[in-house]
Amino acid sequence: MISSATPSAPVLVTGAASGIGLACAHRLAAAGHPVALVDRDAGRLAEAAGSFDAAAVSVHAADLTDPAAADAAVAAALDRHGDLGAVVNAAGAVRGGTVVDTTDEDWRWNLDTNVSSAFYVCRPAVAHLVRRGGGAVVNVASLTALRPIPSRAGYAAAKGAVIAFTRQLALEYGPHGVTANTVCPGAIRTPLLAARFAVEPDAERELTERIPLRRMGEPDELAALVHLLVSGACGYLTGQTLSVDGGLSLV
Ligand SMILES: NC(=O)c1ccc[n+]([C@@H]2O[C@H](COP(=O)([O-])OP(=O)(O)OC[C@H]3O[C@@H](n4cnc5c(N)ncnc54)[C@H](O)[C@@H]3O)[C@@H](O)[C@H]2O)c1
Repeated sequence: MISSATPSAPVLVTGAASGIGLACAHRLAAAGHPVALVDRDAGRLAEAAGSFDAAAVSVHAADLTDPAAADAAVAAALDRHGDLGAVVNAAGAVRGGTVVDTTDEDWRWNLDTNVSSAFYVCRPAVAHLVRRGGGAVVNVASLTALRPIPSRAGYAAAKGAVIAFTRQLALEYGPHGVTANTVCPGAIRTPLLAARFAVEPDAERELTERIPLRRMGEPDELAALVHLLVSGACGYLTGQTLSVDGGLSLV
């Protein structure tokens, strides 16, 4: 039985047009994995694809809040690469709001964008991993799921659900050789965080002062862990939630 993705198996990465997803795709490609890049932003996806070996990359524009689009993206990636040994769900975004001021629409949007998207991708992708005898799932949640910050009601709930969903995957598909783990970024320097700092000018300095390592993380520092989880080098690790946060979860 294969306990994780074989060293050169293709990997599907969502949120691959930017930030953490793009860094994961670059890490995995550098390690010899063909990569299927999925994102809703077709323009940035096409631009990102230019930084990969054209023979070992495919691009699939899809809004993953739409189950049919997610099914189609997984099917197209399988068609193009002939196999998938792992899936990395990094697609996600934030609409802020306290519990009292979060609208129904924003609540559903956070859940659709951050957890339903991962479910819609995993449903067909994990079925394939089971058919091939094993593989790896890595889902990107957030430190916010473990340590709430103000005004993130819908986002925190959605990322908490990512952790529970991933543990469910690990339990159900462990007997089929599939590992499933959650990675929780702290403050990683990406366009998502830049958008927050644009509206909260003091947030970067205040946050950095609280982080034990006294700096933001770089997307590749997250991608290095994702690669390790995909590689099978620690293939006995499953159902776990790992924070990459410079120690922020300690304070
Ligand atoms: N950067 C951080 O500090 C940080 C902290 C905690 C969690 N995260 C999580 O890490 C993941 C990656 O974030 P990032 O910082 O790289 O952000 P980013 O904005 O740079 O990249 C996220 C990508 O996801 C894509 N995306 C969003 N919704 C989508 C959808 N419905 N369908 C398809 N693609 C979609 C976006 O187009 C974008 O390219 C997200 O899940 C985010 O919640 C990031």
